[in-house]
Amino acid sequence: MTVKINFDEQHQIFHLTNQKISYILGIEEGQLLAQLYFGKKITSYHNSRRYPRLDRGFSPNLAGQPAEIDRGFSKDVLPQEYSGNQTGDYRQTAINLTDDVNGASAADFRYADFKIVSGKPHLKGLPQTYIEKRDEAQTLIIHLIDATLRTSLYLSYTIYDQRAVIIKSAKLVNNSDRIIRIDKIASAQLDLPKNNFDLISLYGAHVNERQIQKNELPFGITEISSRRGSSSHHFNPFIALVDKHISETSGEAIGVQLVYSGNHQFTIEKDYIQQLRIITGINEYGFNWQLAPTAEFQTPEVIFAYTDKGLNDLSLTYHKLLRERVARGKFKYAKRPIVINNWEATYFDFNATKIKAIIDKAAPLGIEMFVLDDGWFGKRDDDKSSLGDWYEYVDKLSDGGGLANLAEMVHKKNMQFGLWFEPEMISADSKLYRQHPDYALTIDNREMTPSRDQYVLDFSRDEVVDNIFNQICQILDTVKIDYIKWDMNRHLTEVYSHALNNTKQGEVYHRYMLGVYDLAERLVTKYPDILFEGCSGGGGRFDAGMLYYFPQSWTSDNTDPIARLKIQYGTSLAYPLSSMTAHVSASPNHQTGRQTSLAMRAGVAFAGVLGYELDLSKLTDDELKTIAMQIAFYQKHWQLLQYGDFKRIKSPFEENEVAWEFVSANQEEVMLFNYRILSEAQPSFSITKLTGLKDNYLYQETTTHHQYYGDELMNVGLYDAPVAKQDFTVTIKHFKKIK
Ligand code: DGJ
Repeated sequence: MTVKINFDEQHQIFHLTNQKISYILGIEEGQLLAQLYFGKKITSYHNSRRYPRLDRGFSPNLAGQPAEIDRGFSKDVLPQEYSGNQTGDYRQTAINLTDDVNGASAADFRYADFKIVSGKPHLKGLPQTYIEKRDEAQTLIIHLIDATLRTSLYLSYTIYDQRAVIIKSAKLVNNSDRIIRIDKIASAQLDLPKNNFDLISLYGAHVNERQIQKNELPFGITEISSRRGSSSHHFNPFIALVDKHISETSGEAIGVQLVYSGNHQFTIEKDYIQQLRIITGINEYGFNWQLAPTAEFQTPEVIFAYTDKGLNDLSLTYHKLLRERVARGKFKYAKRPIVINNWEATYFDFNATKIKAIIDKAAPLGIEMFVLDDGWFGKRDDDKSSLGDWYEYVDKLSDGGGLANLAEMVHKKNMQFGLWFEPEMISADSKLYRQHPDYALTIDNREMTPSRDQYVLDFSRDEVVDNIFNQICQILDTVKIDYIKWDMNRHLTEVYSHALNNTKQGEVYHRYMLGVYDLAERLVTKYPDILFEGCSGGGGRFDAGMLYYFPQSWTSDNTDPIARLKIQYGTSLAYPLSSMTAHVSASPNHQTGRQTSLAMRAGVAFAGVLGYELDLSKLTDDELKTIAMQIAFYQKHWQLLQYGDFKRIKSPFEENEVAWEFVSANQEEVMLFNYRILSEAQPSFSITKLTGLKDNYLYQETTTHHQYYGDELMNVGLYDAPVAKQDFTVTIKHFKKIK
């Protein structure tokens, strides 16, 4: 093992390092914990980054400084590890605390001691990165104290063998005899010296998730956040600070990914001397936690990644970590089934006969699973009722003998059976609401804000989570289910719990998330053979937090392949391809009205976990034959497409021609996808240079049998010949090493 955490006692410096990165922090004057370096691995550190002293007007000096005050030393500019409010640092702070007795709002944490543990301690009730072998990681836990509040802060830093990441989180423990109000508690802070970094973030909307934006950072505060009670379609909990001229294959970048699915906040502050401060964690909006004496608060964790080899390398670091040490259970490396889902085929308008017609067509094509989407429970014929009533809508499938019979019929065809749930929601028109109106998030004497005609259950309450757990178990224990799609189709409003007193309402957003995680944990533990897919109106909760429970997620309700080029490309910045589900749907597309060929639709859906979502009983024999061929192709190459290294070559955000590539771990197999969006009368002949191959391997293209050495494919490249007079085209080339 090459992971090391050293403490240089003489200089009071911690150095965390492995084969790839170094993370260095030190104890400064006044026992302040200072950030010194995060970047490429160095052999050892000898104080090259001693922070210069300079008296700066209006940047105050340290309180409680012994002897003479050092006017050249100020928290207001010093790069720190975790700064508190009201005590001399005017920048964004990581923690804001209020003493409940006198109402004073201030926090000032100073270093006390540390310990180094092998492995990584488990965080109770939260999603997280984990270890499989004790010696694959080490964790440094630094203990700081605010002497006035008699409160301890434990900052945790995990470094893994081989991986270019540092995992950070914070825990606050109240050792006093009074309540401490937490107004804000970030997972981590990273202060950087003056640099030329730009900010990459993933913005979006429903049916338009994870679009890439790269912006110059202004002086002041830039914020990427969600206040929706969910990580959201709108801003994904991931950012990257990147060199101005970053490319996929060159340049420095620092990634910041929060392992949390609720309200998040990333603030990036450029201070008055151009230093950067990055703070991330639970959004302070709507957050306020009453920390009782002896109680503790554990933040979610955040994954910082570093590369000096461009964006693609940063993505691969995240892909591997999320796949290998965040996703869990028997499906994490498993071949994911090719599904047929009935949503876009039937919406709510189905009965057993219609469903059976789809299944009859699917089975001979090699489709492996049928997923019955929304509409099978309560009295659900549209989106206005029944959420919360997780029992079979008997009339709906009565022509086929009910849900259990349908499942049996599917299994008899050697297919698996999946079912849709939306556990966190309640319809006003439901048995559950009639019995327990207080189970919904509502504020007395205030109208409830509807969204998709539904309301949100108060998952901060154990009895609500128990109720839904029991209802879901009842179905899972009586019907043979192999897969669950867990959906969430609105965001939170009237965030108020009838089970908490008035001083604790600021805890509801986070307690809601803890309830969601609790239900997910209980279900995946009780039903380890069920594959779970996360979903939130498409990819509205596509984050590392949900991935801990559900190894895959519905990427977007937008199934148009042209829109998907951008959505999947953006998603790949932070998330592995094995977590992205992608379905071939009908043309014209239901979201955009665009007409595309089956080849194009599959050509994009191949890049991820392939599925189908259209009425197969309406397709011609030729179309069905084409689908059978697509499935045979995917069956042959799933390993490469779900778990190979994904390389972005040409971006749909920049060009009409898009290219991406999959390379096997041993570099012996490669799949290249070239897409052209619009046809041109005078098309350019663009060249695609492959990446990630071995110079001296001889590769053969498997259809034309052309042979090339790796260095030719990577340096000379291949022409991407356009298909004449046709929009939306794809060409796929598969190469194998022959020597
Ligand atoms: C939103 C999901 O993203 C869709 O795939 C579908 O399951 C609908 N909800 C059902 O209401």
